[in-house]
Amino acid sequence: MRFSSHIGTLGLAALIFGTGLTACNKKADSPNEILIGEYGSLTGGTATFGQSTHKGVSMAVEEINAAGGILGRKIKVITEDDQGKPEEAQTVVTKLISKDRVSAILGEVASSNSLAAAPVCQQNRIPMVTPASTNPKVTQIGDYVFRICFIDPFQGLVMAKFTFNSLKMKKVAILRDIKSDYSMGLADFFKQNFMAMGGEIVSDESYSQGDKDFNAQLTSIKGKNPEAVFVPGYYTEVGLIARQARKLGITGPLMGGDGWDSDKLWEIGGEALNGCFFSNHYSVNDPSPAIQNFVSVFRTKYGGETPDAMAALGYDAAKVLFDAIRRAGSDKPDSVRMALTQVQGYSGVTGSITLNENRDAVKPAVVLEVKDGKFAFKETVAP
Ligand code: PHE
Repeated sequence: MRFSSHIGTLGLAALIFGTGLTACNKKADSPNEILIGEYGSLTGGTATFGQSTHKGVSMAVEEINAAGGILGRKIKVITEDDQGKPEEAQTVVTKLISKDRVSAILGEVASSNSLAAAPVCQQNRIPMVTPASTNPKVTQIGDYVFRICFIDPFQGLVMAKFTFNSLKMKKVAILRDIKSDYSMGLADFFKQNFMAMGGEIVSDESYSQGDKDFNAQLTSIKGKNPEAVFVPGYYTEVGLIARQARKLGITGPLMGGDGWDSDKLWEIGGEALNGCFFSNHYSVNDPSPAIQNFVSVFRTKYGGETPDAMAALGYDAAKVLFDAIRRAGSDKPDSVRMALTQVQGYSGVTGSITLNENRDAVKPAVVLEVKDGKFAFKETVAP
């Protein structure tokens, strides 16, 4: 998306680095619609993240508008593709704020993209709600930035405990993505917790998002003879890593976090992933009526597709935001921000959502096992 013709380079610099174009936010409420921005990776190496989130958001929008909207007005979501790139995320969010004048923003999934765009929201005082970015630094950007998911210190602990206590494995290697704030953080949180339990990290290797050949790192890992390999990356690389690891004779499970969750994971990695485990935000096998109802409505709406965690989190994030606008009685960004600080016990598909003083949700995680293209539920871990 190009916006330079609209505000020009100086305007952009002011928007990103300055005190913000406050005048933009002082628009009168538009009479018929409430405008919300959404940014995500609709294309690129993490495309299912943005696409799934968008499906969840769209479902929430349809439901609220069918019920008459909020404050007598319909919700309109303006969606921008950032191609999964941090610079592009910053650009499209700038456009959503300066040109579209949205009241609030939903996104992103990948933490590095949220970290790139959140300062633009903060400086322009537009509330941003990320459905799925789990790196702790995201909400530390400022008091306009919220998330409705758990954070990686918890996710790292969940997988360390599962590896050490449930699998009874004590020697683990790590293979992390140095281009991803999420991967770097989660690798560190796993490592700290695993070592504190008495586990040993026998190797800590890295790659860069977009890489295709992991043989050098995997050969070095194999030489250290770990019982399991922790690979907290995104599904595209994880699928390739699994294949290459099996070819080299690494037989132990690969372990990871929510970044594995995609129907593309199995397409890329196939059988090499059987018996591997990852933590996630919800399980479609959970018999809870909230989840089963969501899964069945989603399937009907999207041609039988099973909603992954991002779809559920996108749906929840949109509904938490709508509820905040309703409670605020206004779509003025400052009023919406204030209402977001008071989210308590909101009953979402992904669990009960309460935002703490850091604007993070505190929620349970699930551990899933990859089994012939399905993700089988293993256990729930409470915060
Ligand atoms: N938690 C990941 C991140 O912060 C994003 C993600 C969330 C990916 C949920 C898949 C499912 O980068």
